[in-house]
Formats: sequence, structure tokens, C-alpha cells
Amino acid sequence: MSVTPTTISFARGVPSFDMLPTAEIGEAAARVLADDPAGVLSYGAAEGYRPLRQWVADRYDADVERVLLTNGSLQGLALLAELLFADAGGRAIVEAPTYDRTLLTLRRFGAAVQSVPLEGDGIDLDALESRLQAGAVPGLVYLIPNFQNPAGTTMSRAKRERVVALAGEYEFMVLEDDPYRDLRFSGADEPTMLSLDRDDRVIYSTSFTKTVAPGVRVGGLIVPPPLFGRLRALATDTYIAPSHVAQGTVAAYCAAGHFDPGVERAAEMLAERCAALCAAVDRHLGERAVYRRPEGGYFLWLRLPGVDTEGLATRAAEAGVPFVKGSSCYIDGGGTDELRLAFSACAPADMDPGVERLAALLPGA
Ligand SMILES: Cc1ncc(COP(=O)(O)O)c(C=O)c1O
Repeated sequence: MSVTPTTISFARGVPSFDMLPTAEIGEAAARVLADDPAGVLSYGAAEGYRPLRQWVADRYDADVERVLLTNGSLQGLALLAELLFADAGGRAIVEAPTYDRTLLTLRRFGAAVQSVPLEGDGIDLDALESRLQAGAVPGLVYLIPNFQNPAGTTMSRAKRERVVALAGEYEFMVLEDDPYRDLRFSGADEPTMLSLDRDDRVIYSTSFTKTVAPGVRVGGLIVPPPLFGRLRALATDTYIAPSHVAQGTVAAYCAAGHFDPGVERAAEMLAERCAALCAAVDRHLGERAVYRRPEGGYFLWLRLPGVDTEGLATRAAEAGVPFVKGSSCYIDGGGTDELRLAFSACAPADMDPGVERLAALLPGA
């Protein structure tokens, strides 16, 4: 009798359960309910729980009146997309490849989405500039500067500076989607585009999904003052107020000093997983795979020249080693020989057997 092997999922960009600070989150929830029950059990403010807004403002050296907390950062993106595109339409530029859910959200609200190639150090600025010079100025440029989803790349400082300068010059907004920033395990931090912006052109998106736990569903935007009131009004109309129990729990977690040790521990675990995955890829795929080693985050992006990764994705899902096929992350049918392996959800010991199983599915294996 054949035994179906257990699934080793490279598909989902989520932390494994053992990465989550379960006890600390439990204590934080109990503490905030005991200390501020009225603050977290009422509807609360549409812009979010004030102590957590203040914590975010302090961390990014921003005015607290610019911080709008949402139920996960994706909801902030959805509010922004609705505000910018639902009535007026317009153009949004994304990196190719990019986060597939953003593509869906922008399109759902009527944006005409175009893409510009992503290079090893961030968006191809020559390609972006020639679009701008040709008059194709977008309403929004969406960038994931650190440990990009799906490509794992990090944008250089020079490119960050140039994007901010172009945004001022051509008058477009930049959405800096930065949920992985704190999960660096090698190299040095680059400044946020938010910190380089002097013209209120950058909207910064952060999330506690990767740094505390996905289930808290707490994220948020730091927005230029002219947009803040309109986003808050849209938030009120959409859900009255975000979950203050969740935001209060995260606020108590951060106030207790757990945030930095928590991300340090997560980054150490991710470093080990990334190393184990790269070693497995080298061992089982060797020269067939082309990749750049990420300096943090969750994702390893592979190119397998000559391999149809769409067909491979179907066979891999059947064989219990699912991954995200490259074409999901492009708007124009690119990525057909690329794929994303998430190393966040797998134990280091699963990487080798998982990649071995995947390699056995390749043509000619
Ligand atoms: C680049 C990027 N943005 C946003 C999100 C969504 O985050 P949240 O859970 O805060 O909604 C993700 C989740 O994988 C992501 O990779």
C-alpha cells in the first residue's frame, strides 16, 4: 500500500505556529482587558486604538495624526485603492513580479494596472522614468522595498531616493508596502521612503502580521495629512472602527517590550529556514535553478529556465509540495519559468525532503 507523503507547503507566506509568541500575546490580551476595558470593548475610533497609533508613530518618527490602523494591512490597501480609483479610475504602476493580492485589489477598485520590471535592487527606474516622460503618469506606484513578495529583493538606498524625487517631480503617490522590514537576517537596513519624503508623496503601510501574528489582523497606514480625513471617513463608512480588542492586545504586547525580542527571534528562525532551503535547492536543483539569496523576509524566488512552472505547480500540489507559480505575480503573462518558495512555514528539517520531492517532478528528472 502506498503511503501519501505529508504535505510540505512552500506556498503560503505565513509563519509556522512555533514562531508565534503565544504566551506573550495571551498576557497582553488579559492585561489590556483588565487595564482598559472601556477603551477596547467599545467601538472606538475609526482611525484605531490611540496607544498603538502612538507606538507606530514613535517607531517611524511620524505624527500620530497621520497613523490610521486597519484590520490587517491589506484592508488599508483596499481603503486606499477605493479612495483613489473607485470613482475616478486611473493608472497604478506595480513591480513585475509583485504581490498577487495587491493586483486583485487594485483591479477590483478599477485601477488600470501596469507593471515595470523588478531588478535585483528594486524597480527598474529607467523603465519607470521613460513611462513618466512619455506622459503615462500614474496615480499610484506600489512598491515592496524590503524582501519583496514574491522576489525577496531589497531596494537600494539610491533607488529609494530617486523614486521619492520622481514622485515629487511628476506628482504621483507612492505606496510603500513594508510588512517585512523588521525581519532582516543579513545586511543592513535601508531608510524607508517615508523618511526620505519631504513632499507628502509617500503612503507607508506596515503590519503586525509578520512581527506579532497573522491572526491579530492589525496593520496600518501612515498617510499624508490631505488623505487622512478621507481615509478615516471611508473606514467609518466601511466598518465603523477596526478591532480595538486586537489593537489593544498588540499595544499591550509592544508596551511590555516584547516587539523587538519577538522579531529578533523570528528573524533568527527565518535565517535558519532560508539557509536550509537554499542548501536544499543547491543540492537537488543545482544549476537548473537561478536565484538571489534574500536578506530577510519569507520568500525565495527561483527561475528554472526551460521549465513550465504552471504545469509544475499542478504536479507539485498533487505531490504535496505546493508553491506559488510565477505567473500569478505578473499582470502580463510573465513568470512562466519562475516560482516562489516560502520558507516561513516549513521546519528546517522539511526543506531537503520537500525540495527533493519537487526536483523529482522536473522534466527529465
Ligand atoms: C507585501 C504584502 N503586503 C500585504 C500583505 C498583507 O498583510 P496583512 O496580513 O497585514 O493584511 C502581505 C501578506 O502576505 C504581503 O506580503
